[in-house]
Amino acid sequence: MFNSLFNKLTAMFILVTILGFVIMGIMIFMFLGDMVVNEMALNLEKTAQTITDSFLVYDGSQTLYPWLESWFAGTLRSHSQNTQATIWIIDRSGYLWRFDSPDSEYTAMYKVIQEKFERGPTDIRWRLPSDKYYRKIMTGEYDVLREVGDFQGLLGESGQWLTIQKPIVLKPIDGKSVVWGAVFMHKPVPQILASRTYIFQFVFYSSLVALVVCIILLYFITRRMTRPLKEMNHAAQVIAKGEFDQVLDVNSRDEVGQLARTFNAMTSELRNIENHRREFIANVSHELRTPITTIRGFISGILDGTIPAEKQAFYLDIVRTEAERLGRLVTDLLDLSRIESGESRLVMKKVDINEIIRKCIIQLENNITKKRLNIEMIFEAEIMRVRADPDAILRVVFNLLHNAVKFTPEGGNISVFTMYARDGKVEVSVKDNGHGLEPAELERIFERFYKTDRSRSDDRKGTGLGLAIARSILKEHKQDIQVSSTPGKGTTFTFTLERVE
Ligand SMILES: Nc1ncnc2c1ncn2[C@@H]1O[C@H](COP(=O)(O)OP(=O)(O)O)[C@@H](O)[C@H]1O
Ligand SMILES: [Mg+2]
Repeated sequence: MFNSLFNKLTAMFILVTILGFVIMGIMIFMFLGDMVVNEMALNLEKTAQTITDSFLVYDGSQTLYPWLESWFAGTLRSHSQNTQATIWIIDRSGYLWRFDSPDSEYTAMYKVIQEKFERGPTDIRWRLPSDKYYRKIMTGEYDVLREVGDFQGLLGESGQWLTIQKPIVLKPIDGKSVVWGAVFMHKPVPQILASRTYIFQFVFYSSLVALVVCIILLYFITRRMTRPLKEMNHAAQVIAKGEFDQVLDVNSRDEVGQLARTFNAMTSELRNIENHRREFIANVSHELRTPITTIRGFISGILDGTIPAEKQAFYLDIVRTEAERLGRLVTDLLDLSRIESGESRLVMKKVDINEIIRKCIIQLENNITKKRLNIEMIFEAEIMRVRADPDAILRVVFNLLHNAVKFTPEGGNISVFTMYARDGKVEVSVKDNGHGLEPAELERIFERFYKTDRSRSDDRKGTGLGLAIARSILKEHKQDIQVSSTPGKGTTFTFTLERVE
């Protein structure tokens, strides 16, 4: 079930959300408990204050105004109704002067009084069984006392109670205030907490609704997030089978979107590589087939007598040229693929580029003199050291010079320049005054097997791989090669090398 990222994410989100709500619930529950008890205590304290005030009005005047008796009783009644709390008025000797309870508690509280309070033989009034219940408040040191519990065991059987005690202080006559008695208010804690349960239920149900909404949202968000991954997976499988025309529809900017874009770039690159590969194979087979066809044709002609004996030498010479070209083609191809695959490790050395150029010219001496070409070397310094693989660079220079010699008409001029350039480089240029190249030809000149139509007829020996090899070698050296040409006037190839002292 948790094998898919989608399920994992959804499960994790739901878990975290539920955990969040549970923690929040517990905290709210605890906080609410304290809060409602506190709130109620403050409320009861205020009421107790009102009752003491009323008591002070009532007591001492009730003989003058007998109706005050019923007024005070009514006051107590309404206070106990409003607060749903039991009210006792106890005098400083512990006698119960007044008692009232909300209807729901009246009987129970009355029973407590009957059972727990005491009454002397001649006494008609109830009295708290011990002064430990009222001693503290009667000292007058406390403005109010608050307690949560069973009122020191007196209300034990009936659970937890919140008790407020407020002293009734008589107006001082001689400057000394006297505590006449105290107002006691009791309220069952479960009753107070009922409001918490109510609030909590509200929080609980709204959390539940929020949770469901969250889960639904999360479901869609995760699905949205994982959808591109699924698509990519599918596309990758298709690509693995060799179909590179997969394009993902990307519209997000996040990491997944970036991945999808990278993926698209990768497939497009793969597509390019694949197209190149196909084109390359088509080219190679074409290039190989042409000389083979020629060779086979002429040899058959000689064998079956179609070519007369006196012409055989001529055709065999062509066959030899073609066979040589075939051999060169294969060698060049192997070299090129070795260089491009990075198999041929460069052996970097400090070498004098001018020396390499001189060596190339010596190798081409025969062709140069045969075509009566003028060749000049213009070097900025006598010795110019570069960091390069000497054999590889010799091949580059040779290919460029060889082309210049091939494509310059008899009596033409070829110049080779070396000079120091910017960024610690040495620039090498090979310039000829041959027939030049059209812009469209210039663009394709470094492609494998590319030969201009003209050179196909002029130079039957070339393979069209020389410049491709030169560029690959320079690319491995992290250097550049460029060409410029004016049709009819000549061509210049320029490449760079890393200068060293
Ligand atoms: N100096 C040059 N002048 C004119 N054309 C050139 C010159 N160098 C190269 N080319 C053109 O570029 C083509 C590719 O050159 P290259 O890769 O060396 O192959 P190849 O020399 O075997 O023909 C040549 O066939 C020719 O058409
Ligand atoms: Mg060439």
